Amino acid sequence: MRAIQRGAPLRIGLLGCGTVGAQVARLLAEQADDLAARAGGPLEIAGIAVRRPDAARIAGVDLALITADAAGLAGRADVDIVVELIGGIEPARSLLLAALDAGRSVVTANKALLASDGAALHKAASAAGADLYYEASVAGAIPLLRALRESLAGDTVRRVLGIVNGTTNFILDRMDSLGSDFASALEQAQRLGYAEADPTADVEGHDAAAKAAILAGLAFHSEFTAADVHTEGITEITADDIASARSLGFVIKLLAICERYDNGVSVRVHPAMLPRLHPLAAVHEAYNAVFVEAEAAGRLMFYGAGAGGQPTASAVLGDIVAVARNLRAGLSGPEPATYAELPVVPMADALTRYYVSLDVADRPGVLAPVAESFARRGVSIKAVHQEGRGEDASLIIVTHTARESALAETVADLSAMESVRAVGSVLRVEGQEGE
Ligand SMILES: NC(=O)c1ccc[n+]([C@@H]2O[C@H](COP(=O)([O-])OP(=O)(O)OC[C@H]3O[C@@H](n4cnc5c(N)ncnc54)[C@H](OP(=O)(O)O)[C@@H]3O)[C@@H](O)[C@H]2O)c1
Repeated sequence: MRAIQRGAPLRIGLLGCGTVGAQVARLLAEQADDLAARAGGPLEIAGIAVRRPDAARIAGVDLALITADAAGLAGRADVDIVVELIGGIEPARSLLLAALDAGRSVVTANKALLASDGAALHKAASAAGADLYYEASVAGAIPLLRALRESLAGDTVRRVLGIVNGTTNFILDRMDSLGSDFASALEQAQRLGYAEADPTADVEGHDAAAKAAILAGLAFHSEFTAADVHTEGITEITADDIASARSLGFVIKLLAICERYDNGVSVRVHPAMLPRLHPLAAVHEAYNAVFVEAEAAGRLMFYGAGAGGQPTASAVLGDIVAVARNLRAGLSGPEPATYAELPVVPMADALTRYYVSLDVADRPGVLAPVAESFARRGVSIKAVHQEGRGEDASLIIVTHTARESALAETVADLSAMESVRAVGSVLRVEGQEGE
């Protein structure tokens, strides 16, 4: 770490000047005086690396600083803080490892990289005594990672339940409020700029899985990668599922769930029904929210804009100021503790409640064998709703908490039953019993 003279400028190598990077560059210029006062001295941009140096940039970005040489900028001797807003694994990974190895502090918003190579990056930062901050990587503007890493460092987190992908929340919210199907809600999200032309990473749950891995690591003081996260997206959710959930007093959300069990951590992303009274049920449009349950603190809710250039830049700038203060004090910030080394609990052992819809023959005596197959697998039924539809009836069953493997065996048994014409939807139900 180079010695910083009192009041001397700290120099930033900005890698990436797209949706987020351009807003960071603009705000660094526009708020220079206030940021200098808060950070203990001026923050200057040493250079801005991009892929297309001749492309147009927003007003407020100094074009004289633009370069196509990201590695050269990150390695410059006069750069103190490398801010990576390129995204993806490479070249971001190599650039950041080289910067950390050279003792530069790093700020990044790159959830994909943190969820694949977080351990290597933390190791490099620790070895160099440099900072690695990534508040913007999960839930955009919401100050959540610092809360987990610092504010809750004295507590024991039991559960983190989050809506961490704005695109899927927008789609499910439109399906709920307008009764639209998945395809038309997705098309609307794309038209309004809430979904990318290729929405795979969002709708298949991969983006939320990267965030779940980061959240679980900080909440449970262990290391997880996106590959540890059981991941299901929302493409199979139908307008009927949404309507059925609504009639039972539930709403369907894509949730990132990190839960502490006696034997490890369950970390998963999947659509789930939530009681309409649950605080996360009231999160509409593309907003994000994360609900944390800690032993002493109780239930905490973090809510706000999970994406967008300006909101995300707010979190990046907060990290830059924190890193600048550390550099001026000759310190490095708190490292996340990974001493617990908790294992991942297999999805088959996850514990949750379930909603199962069945098409059955509408004749006397159908319910008894259905109920018996749940009982045989140790899955306790909480509520049954039956609705006649001519020769068939629709049977909706909501269970008490059960093991995922027991529910899967029950569904296999039901599928083989003569009186069950079809097993419709099987959805998990989250939120505490009685909510
Ligand atoms: N957008 C959001 O709302 C949001 C929210 C939270 C977190 N994030 C994270 O923030 C990061 C940046 O996202 P973004 O939306 O700002 O991305 P973006 O709009 O696609 O911008 C990427 C920037 O990186 C530059 N770039 C790409 N490849 C490069 C290379 N090989 N060398 C140098 N520069 C390169 C691009 O240059 P050109 O401009 O010349 O193409 C562009 O300026 C990602 O990790 C993302 O996950 C974004």
